[in-house]
Amino acid sequence: MQSFNPPRRILMGPGPSDVSPRVLAALARPTIGHLDPAFQDLMEEIKAGLSRLMNAPGYACVPLPAPGTAGMEAAIMNLLQPGERAVIAVNGAFGGRMADMAGRAGAEVVTVDHEWGQPVDAQRVEAVLAERPAKLLAFVHAETSTGALSDAHPLCAAAARHGALSIVDCVTSLGGVPVNAVGWGADVIYSGTQKCLSAPPGLSPIALSSRAQAAIAARTEKPRNWLFDFQLLMSYWGGEGGRTYHHTAPINALYGLHEALVVLFEEGLQAAFVRHARTHGALAAGVEALGLSFLVDAPHRLPQLNAVRVPDGVDEAAVRTHVLNAWGLEIGAGLGPLKGKVWRIGLMGASASDWHVRLCLTALADALNAQGNGADGRRALDAAEASLSRET
Ligand SMILES: Cc1ncc(COP(=O)(O)O)c(C=O)c1O
Repeated sequence: MQSFNPPRRILMGPGPSDVSPRVLAALARPTIGHLDPAFQDLMEEIKAGLSRLMNAPGYACVPLPAPGTAGMEAAIMNLLQPGERAVIAVNGAFGGRMADMAGRAGAEVVTVDHEWGQPVDAQRVEAVLAERPAKLLAFVHAETSTGALSDAHPLCAAAARHGALSIVDCVTSLGGVPVNAVGWGADVIYSGTQKCLSAPPGLSPIALSSRAQAAIAARTEKPRNWLFDFQLLMSYWGGEGGRTYHHTAPINALYGLHEALVVLFEEGLQAAFVRHARTHGALAAGVEALGLSFLVDAPHRLPQLNAVRVPDGVDEAAVRTHVLNAWGLEIGAGLGPLKGKVWRIGLMGASASDWHVRLCLTALADALNAQGNGADGRRALDAAEASLSRET
């Protein structure tokens, strides 16, 4: 075997996003023990940072030692007991994953299905909750498979009105658009590190309200998973000091998350949201100048995930291969029913910069021209520059 040296890539897919050099440097710091007093101080800072980031004071906030799917699994497995009913809004691939997991937890699953590309409709969901009382409502705030943003507040409020707990998937939203646990009245929020936090994949921040914690404490049977059994997990992450061994924390990954939080708070959360919106505006202007269109209507579009329709006569996969080989640029393919029909272009965290927008438009125009599509790259760049100068 020889050392692995990854090729130089620019990551503008659905995640992971580019990891900032500061986070990469933090990951390479010396490993210490996971019960070392210095490490315990770091854990407390991470908990406080996550609580601030999600506006979740009074919630239990911890980073689970696995990717975003772990947050989903922990939320569903801890809150649902066999035989209980779960209402799951499905407007893309990740809502579908939640429904599958709730079924595996032994729950009776009621899905509220939406066309892919649409946001979740709070009125339809509330009508289902009113008719079929449920233990919980789960939905995806930022559906990465389509680029649609749903309004979390009315959905969490509908759950509370009907006595259900709410689980909100914020994997792609956290750090790119506001996430507001207290303001929404959400019971569980979870995320991942590889999207708008610009740390490597492998950790899943999760926040649980006191209502969610009480529901877990009142379970009549243990959750069927051990690693993410919330009460066992909190013997390690809960309280100040006095921690007992539960699992060996991914120590260096947590250095990376800590640094990502430091970087984000230095910039300012509001400034980061403005940066994502501004670069999205420029990318959208350029994409439209290339003659391409978006899957999602403008009011419901996520700034950090842009699903762009593949025009007739263009080979979707060949465009991705061209931008990767000629420009070192990764963009994403469509999932499920959108396979071959859209490209998914991420503007997440460190990848949401003016420079990334220019590179992406230039590379896309080049790839389209290679297929004789006749896209005008100069016009796209001018449209993007005009948008950026309006927004500064
Ligand atoms: C909305 C959403 N939920 C959950 C996940 C799962 O996260 P992971 O791939 O980190 O397990 C993803 C990943 O892309 C996602 O976009």
